[in-house]
Amino acid sequence: MIINVISRKLFLSTAIICCFVSNNIKAQTAKNSKKISPDLFGLFFEDINYAADGGLYAELVQNRSFEYGPTERSGWNPLSYWEYACLGFSYGQLSVETNEPVHRNNPHYVVLNVEHVGHEAKYAGLSGVGMKNSGYDGMVIKAGEKYSFSMFAKLLSGKSIKMKVILESKSGALLASDSFTVDSKEWQKQTASLQPSASYDTANLIVLATTEGKLAVDEVSLFPEHTFKNRPNGLRADLAQVLADMKPKFIRFPGGCLAHGDGLNNMYRWENTIGPVEQRVQQRNIWGYHQTAGLGYFEYFQFCEDIGAKPLPVLPAGVSCQNTGGTWRIGGTGQKAIPMEEMQAYVQEVLNLVEWANGPATSVWGAKRAAAGHPEPFHLEYIGIGNEDKITPEFAERFKMIFDALKSKHPEIIIVGTVGPSPDGEDFDKGWAIANEIKIPVVDEHYYTDPKWFITHQHRYDSYKRNATQVYLGEYASWGNKLRNAIAEAAYMTALERNGDVVRMASYAPMLAKKGFTQWGTDMIFFDNASICLTPNYYVQKLFSANAGDTYVGNVVVKDDRDSALAASCVQDSKTGDVIVKVVNYDSSKTKKIVVDLSAFKNIQSNAQQIVLVGNANAENSLEKQEAISPVESTVTVGKKFNYDAPPMSLTVVRIKTRKL
Ligand code: AHR
Repeated sequence: MIINVISRKLFLSTAIICCFVSNNIKAQTAKNSKKISPDLFGLFFEDINYAADGGLYAELVQNRSFEYGPTERSGWNPLSYWEYACLGFSYGQLSVETNEPVHRNNPHYVVLNVEHVGHEAKYAGLSGVGMKNSGYDGMVIKAGEKYSFSMFAKLLSGKSIKMKVILESKSGALLASDSFTVDSKEWQKQTASLQPSASYDTANLIVLATTEGKLAVDEVSLFPEHTFKNRPNGLRADLAQVLADMKPKFIRFPGGCLAHGDGLNNMYRWENTIGPVEQRVQQRNIWGYHQTAGLGYFEYFQFCEDIGAKPLPVLPAGVSCQNTGGTWRIGGTGQKAIPMEEMQAYVQEVLNLVEWANGPATSVWGAKRAAAGHPEPFHLEYIGIGNEDKITPEFAERFKMIFDALKSKHPEIIIVGTVGPSPDGEDFDKGWAIANEIKIPVVDEHYYTDPKWFITHQHRYDSYKRNATQVYLGEYASWGNKLRNAIAEAAYMTALERNGDVVRMASYAPMLAKKGFTQWGTDMIFFDNASICLTPNYYVQKLFSANAGDTYVGNVVVKDDRDSALAASCVQDSKTGDVIVKVVNYDSSKTKKIVVDLSAFKNIQSNAQQIVLVGNANAENSLEKQEAISPVESTVTVGKKFNYDAPPMSLTVVRIKTRKL
């Protein structure tokens, strides 16, 4: 794609361009610029579609602490994903017990009773009794990389017991092994290191007692040493990296419906997710699987800090998801409310989060953060209260209690309220009425709808009141992962930039989905254990968040404003001085002509970076056919005024420097 310095002749054919040529269009002045939110584009993370356990959280062992159960999924039990292993004509027993657990929050553990160790070797003299874990559909291991094994063990018989830990292929080939001895009568953490000789995508882990005796085992864990930023208990490096590459300004977590939960006992209570992993409260995931809470609040905050994103934790507003008990989805009436006599304690829990995140290491909650290895504060600015809740009197009463307490104790925190699951309707109206009445700084709007809606509603926020409650568009997506969907979202995002004085934040949803384990069809990034598929929607989000600005400048892109298939925006980033023009053509067959007038900017550098995402409207990426659609980058020459032909079904970003390097 070539950008030419404007040729007058070329544009005489359209009215708009005639205006431009005849200088009737106002050159951009300061009047056309306004400050917009510096936090506009970020990420929404929810543990849906195996996004955390089995996904971003790098733990390779599934059901590591034997807490799976039938209330999470029919057929599950504490030994799901484990099988009894006995090698070399050895024999013994394996049972699940709860008498003296590692911690009361982690009640189940396994007792291995090794009655006899035989001598018929499977692997070079190896025999014993133990158990085998198959991970999340097998474990991906890489030759030469190191893997950290750990487990809690306690000797239940007289003599110490020798242990082997092994990685094996599906056909039983030995890929790595290490050994240690259990000799403590108290629970003790044992560690080992495995370095596979070969790469393998579906390995199993075997934990084997190779001498006779009885021991208790819990919290069996295997992590790659190489996690994102090499954090212990860390994140899968490749997945975390594609998120970091987006340069998101914030991350909302932990959901979604997961945040307010399936009934009162299923709410995501942040205090339960910090501290040593073996002591965290695990629970049923509202999306039909298990949450270890291994990826808990500390890890979320750490990840935000690691990638320069502001944390946006969302806490329940004292009520559970209205779809509790399977009344999914819009309009559910299963909402349950924390009894009023327990609300003071709940409000305190919300306040504690601020102290945990921002308080000095000498404070009660700050000390817990420091103990986890982070004495410095996390600089929490935002807290979300509620997730698209049904706006009932019970909700309103509890929300206001939390809001008032937070506002009076921590006026520095920006509170994000909630206005239901849809772009309009009863909950939306009632939610906004509360926001206006008590002056909530920001409210969270959600909508999942078809691409045409995004094209026809580009003016939604133009008429929102300024200097009042702002909007966090916390969940949105058009129905699909084809290029057409992504380009419709891109058009809408130019309108979010134009309204960046009222739309403070926006995040696409959901973010991650593991192939074969999804509960939500349209997602931003698909993955399996070995690879990642970046959808066209991902690329659109990345192009906007990595090319964001803090000033919106109007009248830079001259185009036919009656054509809703053609959208554009221009922002400037005060940190770099760069001017960023985005042009979106949603028409699948016609090229659209526009003019870019940069005359209001000083020091325009002629070498600009251009990135174009373009293709067939129905094209999409998949794990099998990677990168059918991906952005193409080039260097182009620009002048103060230039024309551009936006290709059919495309997003173009032009990044122009105003400072000499
Ligand atoms: O993003 C998936 C779900 O959609 C979220 O959990 C919920 O908030 C919304 O209904």
